[in-house]
Amino acid sequence: MDAPLPLPGDNRLGCVAADLASQGWSWQPGLLPDTLLAAMREEIQRLDADATLAPAGIGRDDDFQVDRSIRKTRITWLDGSSAAQSAFAAWAEHWRESLNRTLLLGLFEFEACYAVYPEGGFYDRHLDSFEGARNRIVSIVVYLNEAWSVDDGGALLVWPEGAADEASPIASIVPEGGGVVFMLSETIPHAVEPTARLRYGLAGWWRVNPAINGVAIPLD
Ligand code: OGA
Ligand code: MN
Repeated sequence: MDAPLPLPGDNRLGCVAADLASQGWSWQPGLLPDTLLAAMREEIQRLDADATLAPAGIGRDDDFQVDRSIRKTRITWLDGSSAAQSAFAAWAEHWRESLNRTLLLGLFEFEACYAVYPEGGFYDRHLDSFEGARNRIVSIVVYLNEAWSVDDGGALLVWPEGAADEASPIASIVPEGGGVVFMLSETIPHAVEPTARLRYGLAGWWRVNPAINGVAIPLD
């Protein structure tokens, strides 16, 4: 990708930071720069056609299971090995720095995967950070779809912090290409409704540096 990417607008940064502070999540339509959207959409479609993407699991690495009753997605982790991935990493890095500056979050490491939901794919209500481990702090979801409509399904449902299982969601987000969601990973429950079409996106998480913010782990 040779064209320089615009930086995230400062006006949007203010909105995202205020939303995260007040409600724990933020929806920003059209936030991803168009050139980056096009390059990432081309890549996720190519990887999916090459069958590089694998069924996603649930739980920590040592407890990995493919459970289609809660989640039906194909994923592949980003490793920065393409121009599109390194451009995205640079874009995400601006957000990390900006959020740290504004909200003093101490975000440190970033990990992300491309996710394709097949027709009928979904993800039941969940939190992104596993209980008992302060690992994922802020989640980001970037949509790579083209011309999505409400009838295509696949909406992201969002609940407020502490919402009961039977509570109604407070938002239903249509996954339009270029739209970006930020969420506090430990507190904001969310779900993906069954999709009627192939649904393309990226899910990423920032972690804190355990050496700075974590609990001391005894050495013996
Ligand atoms: C996830 C997730 C939401 C979406 O990958 O953890 O919740 O809209 N994704 O794709
Ligand atoms: Mn999630």
